[in-house]
Amino acid sequence: MKRIKIGIFGYCRGSAYVDSFLQNNAEIVAVCDKRKDRLEEAKKKLGNMVTCYEEFDAFIEHSMDAVFIANYFHEHTPYIIRCFEKNIHVLCECISNSTMAEGVQLVEAAEKSKSIFMLAENYPYMIFNIEMKRLYEGGTLGKCLYAEGEYNHPSNRNDDNTRYLYDSELHWRNYLPKTYYVTHSLAPIMFATGANPVRVTAMPIFSPVPKERPTASFVGDKAAIITTLNDDKSVFRFTGHATFGGECNSYRLCCEKATVENVRGSGGKVMLHYNWWEKPKDKEAVNFYMPEYEGEDVELVKKSGHGGGDFCVAKEFLNCIRENKPHPFDVYFSTRMSSVAILGHRSLLEYGTPYDIPDFKNKADRDKYRNDTLSPFFYSDGRTPTLPCCSEQNFKPLDSQVEEFKKILKG
Ligand SMILES: NC(=O)c1ccc[n+]([C@@H]2O[C@H](COP(=O)([O-])OP(=O)(O)OC[C@H]3O[C@@H](n4cnc5c(N)ncnc54)[C@H](O)[C@@H]3O)[C@@H](O)[C@H]2O)c1
Repeated sequence: MKRIKIGIFGYCRGSAYVDSFLQNNAEIVAVCDKRKDRLEEAKKKLGNMVTCYEEFDAFIEHSMDAVFIANYFHEHTPYIIRCFEKNIHVLCECISNSTMAEGVQLVEAAEKSKSIFMLAENYPYMIFNIEMKRLYEGGTLGKCLYAEGEYNHPSNRNDDNTRYLYDSELHWRNYLPKTYYVTHSLAPIMFATGANPVRVTAMPIFSPVPKERPTASFVGDKAAIITTLNDDKSVFRFTGHATFGGECNSYRLCCEKATVENVRGSGGKVMLHYNWWEKPKDKEAVNFYMPEYEGEDVELVKKSGHGGGDFCVAKEFLNCIRENKPHPFDVYFSTRMSSVAILGHRSLLEYGTPYDIPDFKNKADRDKYRNDTLSPFFYSDGRTPTLPCCSEQNFKPLDSQVEEFKKILKG
């Protein structure tokens, strides 16, 4: 089996994939992070096998087959394109593009390149989501008519994890509209059913954190409730990054003959519920069970982060490189999800105006968005927000909250 040489760009989330790459017969030859403490961590973990870089320009010249893009959430696209220009394969953290214009650039660069691109979307590879996809493809459920996806990740923030997750008050997490972190709720239901969103609308749930809590977040929304009409006439309803009480990830496929869902609070159990008159002979009408991973690496999957998802993503990516085949999470899949995130936010700012999702396989759709650079984020190159990030467009944290937040960052 070919040993694949990987470089990691961004050694915060980037570090979480090290073991999964090594377990799948890859070697990590280079790491790039502008933070010296993170490069020290990389050297400690990887020893002499790795060369460390603070600058991408030097890193990209290192001899390697693939790069794991795990820099800031909203700054992936230009670096992916640099890899494409050198035919270096790319595994990219979510999301692939933070503006519509970048989505067009990404697709056009991919079409000129020999690189394989895969979005590192791990939630579809959680064991219960693999099971739901397996059941759907088995054909006994009938066609999916409606599906739900919920990524609900409130946090009990302490000073250490604030310093881990933020490096300034202008960090992307403080300007992240609730529809933008969409892949963990949307990708599992797209992947399971094969349906693609073609129209989006979204509503906000505005509920800012208490005034005594340190924060520099300009987003007072707790969730976005997003609805899409899909190309097969089905409908999805899903959250972006929600922060309700009771952390959970939950998914549900409602089909012609049955509904399947992972049950909240059950530790990953699945409920498969048929119409009693349409159930297969070997099933009850209601089946409630813990799904098992059936691949050969079951012990590694059980130990890996995000319910086995991280290991499976690394394995899938490396297999695609070895077999020179595309992955379903390609640039079209990824940019479609980004379009849902970006246009969903515009809908939310207007309390529900529907937006059509472009198909970037079509030139006319690309041309419509080629110059659309609106964004709610601060960028490292000095660009500032051109869109509000919160449904209450004048919302901002108190100066006292921001001061406390900055004190925490200083340590
Ligand atoms: N799939 C998942 O489960 C999951 C979990 C966490 C984070 N993520 C994703 O991972 C990505 C990174 O998030 P994070 O949690 O690591 O936080 P982060 O964005 O704060 O960390 C990014 C890292 O990249 C480095 N960096 C950024 N720009 C750089 C540049 N130009 N040159 C050198 N280094 C640079 C930073 O110093 C930092 O160490 C995001 O896209 C996020 O959405 C995904």
